[in-house]
Amino acid sequence: MKIQFIGHSCFYIEDKHFKGIIDPFITGNPQATLTSTHFNTLTHIFITHGHGDHLGDTLSLAKKTGALIITNYEIACFLNRQGFNTHAMHIGGRHPFDFGIVKMTPALHGSSIETENGFIYGGNPCGFIIELNGKKIYHAGDTGLTMDMKLLEIENIDVALLPIGGNFTMDIEDAARAVDFIKPKKVVPMHYDTFPVIKANTNDFKKRISSSKVIVLNPGESLNI
Ligand code: NI
Ligand code: MN
Repeated sequence: MKIQFIGHSCFYIEDKHFKGIIDPFITGNPQATLTSTHFNTLTHIFITHGHGDHLGDTLSLAKKTGALIITNYEIACFLNRQGFNTHAMHIGGRHPFDFGIVKMTPALHGSSIETENGFIYGGNPCGFIIELNGKKIYHAGDTGLTMDMKLLEIENIDVALLPIGGNFTMDIEDAARAVDFIKPKKVVPMHYDTFPVIKANTNDFKKRISSSKVIVLNPGESLNI
């Protein structure tokens, strides 16, 4: 299976019968090396919360591909009302899909959706554990460090995608503590360097971690597991 970093918190995951994208912020993403025209076939879109740098290109990608959108109940209702194909979940919920199993994990953050008519309530922000072909990928979404992450150790995560940019989420110091809690086999940092306020030094992050393998992906690069 291929895990491709698109930039910011956006990852594209591809397996035999699965083409999923998480937090598809592509248009307007200063880090992205690909454009949304690159994604003509998607089976699933995962949204961790309502902020623009995560909801991103969801509407146009879903319209183009007919992908099923997996997100929290509130965002699913918001998208459903616009005619999109959604599957609503909520924190702590686990559900078997045809491609694998998804669990929605808590995140400590906001989730409002900004529209022309003001803000819409976007429920609780979340993360996802996506179990595919016997491998578990954890995408933390935007979050601060939480004690809840200690519970993720028992999930035996293969790859953890963790924000490290600080200001809106964990910085490298807290993300290193999160790695200590979660104990994934591999860690890929995300949500850094996109904007000046979330600059982070990935070498400093690496130095703080000994138990897991840190894999820094440049936008466009992939990890095969
Ligand atoms: Ni956010
Ligand atoms: Mn964000």
